[in-house]
Amino acid sequence: MDAALLYFDEETLPAKRLAAAAGLEARPVGLHRFPDEELCLRLPLAELPPSLVIYRSLNRPNDKLVELMLLVRHAREQGVEHLVLVAPYLAYMRQDVAFNQGELVSQRLVGGFLAELFDAVLTVDPHLHRIERLEQAVPVRHAITLSGVPQLATAIAERRPDALLLGPDIESQQWVECAARVAELEYDVCTKKRHGDLDVEIVLPSLDLAGRRVVLLDDIASSGHTLAVATQKVLSAGAASVDVAVTHALFAGDALNVIRQAGVGEVWSTDTIAHESNTVFMAPVIARALRQVFGILIGQG
Ligand code: R5P
Repeated sequence: MDAALLYFDEETLPAKRLAAAAGLEARPVGLHRFPDEELCLRLPLAELPPSLVIYRSLNRPNDKLVELMLLVRHAREQGVEHLVLVAPYLAYMRQDVAFNQGELVSQRLVGGFLAELFDAVLTVDPHLHRIERLEQAVPVRHAITLSGVPQLATAIAERRPDALLLGPDIESQQWVECAARVAELEYDVCTKKRHGDLDVEIVLPSLDLAGRRVVLLDDIASSGHTLAVATQKVLSAGAASVDVAVTHALFAGDALNVIRQAGVGEVWSTDTIAHESNTVFMAPVIARALRQVFGILIGQG
């Protein structure tokens, strides 16, 4: 395959794992930040191949979106035909409506921006709540949604075979249901009302939690407050322990500390965002999808 995978320094490990699984040459993009914060990118190849995969997980997304714009526009100018974005974590998906008057619907705007740049976008467990399919948010020719939940479910079942899976809000139902099916575990979901970035209210489902080993499962842990409040409630209801599993370990600021203080034991995540809690590697799943996408793109010419 006349293709290469480009990655940035801080994602060397997952990018190389993916390149090895997909049989692609992996090369790092040089990045220099000037004192005034402008970016200078440097390509590792004198000549670009006709197909390029760019690996960029979009946590802390703002600079990364500019990097992608610079990289892809340059690549197109150099004649690259097929550009595929592997963004294991896709940012701005939670702002899918204007929650307050005048707010911009970032999901559609960022999705549209990526669709203009790329021929295909692959991501893992994107936060699709009020819409069903990724291509509604990212209207690109090939919008591929993969999931880390089946492997997380297996990891949970190995460690807590008697776990009760609990989603902290209605949005998590899709992932909790899937995990419960794969691991053959009991599950339920809470309801959540968000009053502010760090202010959430959670109501537990009506089931007996006394003595249960609960695993809270969600797509994203950001400030950690959703998981912290859910943990406090679950422990107050008599649960024996609370562990946490998330696809995307954003854990902004002191989030990990916040959930530990609330009483969380173990934390398991996928490597869509590099974090000490990474338990599940997504490379084999992404590589399989990548091979299919290339088959279609190259087949189409
Ligand atoms: C939203 O519904 C997501 O699934 C997460 O529950 C949310 O993003 C977690 O945010 P935080 O950790 O800041 O409470």
